Parts: sequence; structure tokens; C-alpha cells
Amino acid sequence: MSLYDPDNDPILDVRVLSKYFPCGTFFSSKQVHAVEDVSFAVQRGEVIALVGESGSGKTTTLRLVARLIPATCGEIIFKGCDVLKSEPRKASLDYRRKVQLIFQDPFGSLNPAHTIEHHLSRPLMIHKLAVTRQEVHDQLCNLLETVELKPASEIANRYPHQLSGGQRQRVAIARALAVQPELILADEPISMLDVSIRMGVLNLIHQLKEERGISFVYITHDLASARYIADKTAVMYAGHMVEGGTSEEIMTHPAHPYTQLLLSAVPDPRAGLKTDKNSLARGEVPSLIDPPPGCPFALRCLRVKEACHQQMPEPKTIALNHWVRCHLY
Ligand SMILES: Nc1ncnc2c1ncn2[C@@H]1O[C@H](COP(=O)(O)OP(=O)(O)OP(=O)(O)O)[C@@H](O)[C@H]1O
Ligand SMILES: [Mg+2]
Repeated sequence: MSLYDPDNDPILDVRVLSKYFPCGTFFSSKQVHAVEDVSFAVQRGEVIALVGESGSGKTTTLRLVARLIPATCGEIIFKGCDVLKSEPRKASLDYRRKVQLIFQDPFGSLNPAHTIEHHLSRPLMIHKLAVTRQEVHDQLCNLLETVELKPASEIANRYPHQLSGGQRQRVAIARALAVQPELILADEPISMLDVSIRMGVLNLIHQLKEERGISFVYITHDLASARYIADKTAVMYAGHMVEGGTSEEIMTHPAHPYTQLLLSAVPDPRAGLKTDKNSLARGEVPSLIDPPPGCPFALRCLRVKEACHQQMPEPKTIALNHWVRCHLY
């Protein structure tokens, strides 16, 4: 029996999770180390941002948590239960209801052949959250109003191509909300939206966290939005989580040379185009195929030491709610 305490324990606790994809020919034993020993926790009503450059393993981490792909090793503890351990089918269905995914592409995540009503009524009926036609209609109108798509009954009859990108992303959020989730995994939900409507979607996420206590894992390349919306931020590099803590602490006192590089790449209109990234890093991103031991950033880091090529450092707490994996600390 699980001893989960919702007030104190994290709703999601990911422990040393790894994913290696086989690659090359059938006879080759080479593997892509897409995610390596990743650990993080999310409390109820908390937003955690996963940031990092392209190919750092953010989406793979989310797909692992959503159970879209099997993990190579590690634990995913949801409300006190390890969801990777064999479990009855019903528990798995329950997990898929409570943990919902929102994708980057609001154009691709909705079926162009079906109306918005169809998209929203299906999850309600599959999970038996509404039975009669009237119940389904009332609930889907409620959902559309929650995500501020009005008039709801008119929007319900439209097809995805009759909505704007921002409206489509709101429908995707409404569909996730239909099944009363407790955790939403959002993979770059605003990156394909026009800058003018991004703020609206971010505010909606904030409102859902505040009013409904929904937790979010929010993937982004945009550090400003992570600082704006996320309570905590975790930085990924080449499959590893290299730094984590409260967003404010990470943005104001970045400790890992890679996080410092990431933050230096954020354009600052006051500084003009003067930022010299060469002063913070050099070289190339390492191959993820059978990577050498040591810190993956060692090849680029200007403060590299002998130990960096030999061993990946353990996480070290350097301030309240701030840890880093770097031999400099
Ligand atoms: N099915 C797969 N087979 C082999 N390699 C894969 C597979 N899926 C992902 N990868 C590799 O895993 C690594 C991490 O990919 P992932 O999609 O998680 O990165 P990401 O951080 O989400 O990048 P982006 O910011 O561009 O979305 C990449 O090198 C990718 O090529
Ligand atoms: Mg991705």
C-alpha cells in the first residue's frame, strides 16, 4: 500500500531515469544515450520547466513520463506508486487519465476531419465522465469557456482549420482538461504560436495551476517564459540534467558553465549584439552514441579540469533549492 501524502510528497518523482535507443544496423550494439540518470520532482500545483538546447533529451524525458516509450532503467513515482513496475490494466488507464500531454504543434495534434465537439466529447465518454448527450454538451461548453473560447457552442461546431493557432492550442488544453488531469506534460506548447498570443496561453497555464492545483512539466527553449511561469527550472545537456532549482535562483545565479552559456544567449536589447559566446564555450556538442565517461560539457567548457573527462560529478547542493552537477563546485 502506498503511503503517499498529497500535502508533502511530490505528485511526480522521477529517479535516475535513462533511455537508450538502439541505432545502426541489426547487428550493431550501438545506442543513443538520449536520457541519462535524470531525476526531478514536481509538487502538487507546481510548474517545473525543462530547458536545454535541441537534442538534449527534453521530449524523450516527457515521453518516458507519459509512458509513450519504455524506459531503459529508472523509476517514475506518481502519487507514491512506481508506474514502471508491472501493474494491472486499470491502474495504467487511471495513470493515462491523470497525466495528460500537450504537444508543440497545435496544427498536428487535432484531427482535421473532426469538429472541436468530437475532439472534446471523446475523452469525456471514454473515461465515462459524461453519459447523456446533454451532459457531454454541457461539459464541453464548460471546458471551452475555461480556456476562454467563446461562444462555446459556436466554437464546438467548428473544424480545426477554422480556428487560429492560439485557439487550436487552447482546444488542445481543453481536451487535456476534459479528463480532470492532475499533471500536464507540455512540450513547447507556445513555441509555434505568434508572440502576441503566447502570453494568453502562459496565463492560462498559470491560472490552471493556481485554481485547480494542476502540476505541469513545461518544456521550453525560451528562458524568459520559464522564469515567468515555472516555480522550478531544470537544465538538460546531452541527456543529463546538469542543474536545477527555483527558477529565480537559476536565472539570477546560474552555476553550471552550460547554464551560464544558455543565459548569455538570451538577447538583451540594452547590450546590443555584443555578447561574445566564445568567452563562455568552444567546440561541439558530444555525440550521444556511446558517449565517453565524464561530463558531457567538458569538450566545450573553458573551465574544464582533468576530473571532468573522467567522471560525471554527483549533484551538489550549492544554495537553498539549488543544485548543480559540476566539478567546479
Ligand atoms: N526514437 C529514437 N531513436 C533514436 N534516437 C532518438 C529517438 N528519439 C530521440 N532520439 C535522439 O535522442 C536525443 C534527444 O532527443 P529529444 O527529442 O528528446 O531532444 P529535445 O531536447 O526534445 O530536442 P528539441 O529541443 O529539438 O525538441 C536526440 O539526439 C535524438 O536524435
Ligand atoms: Mg523536443
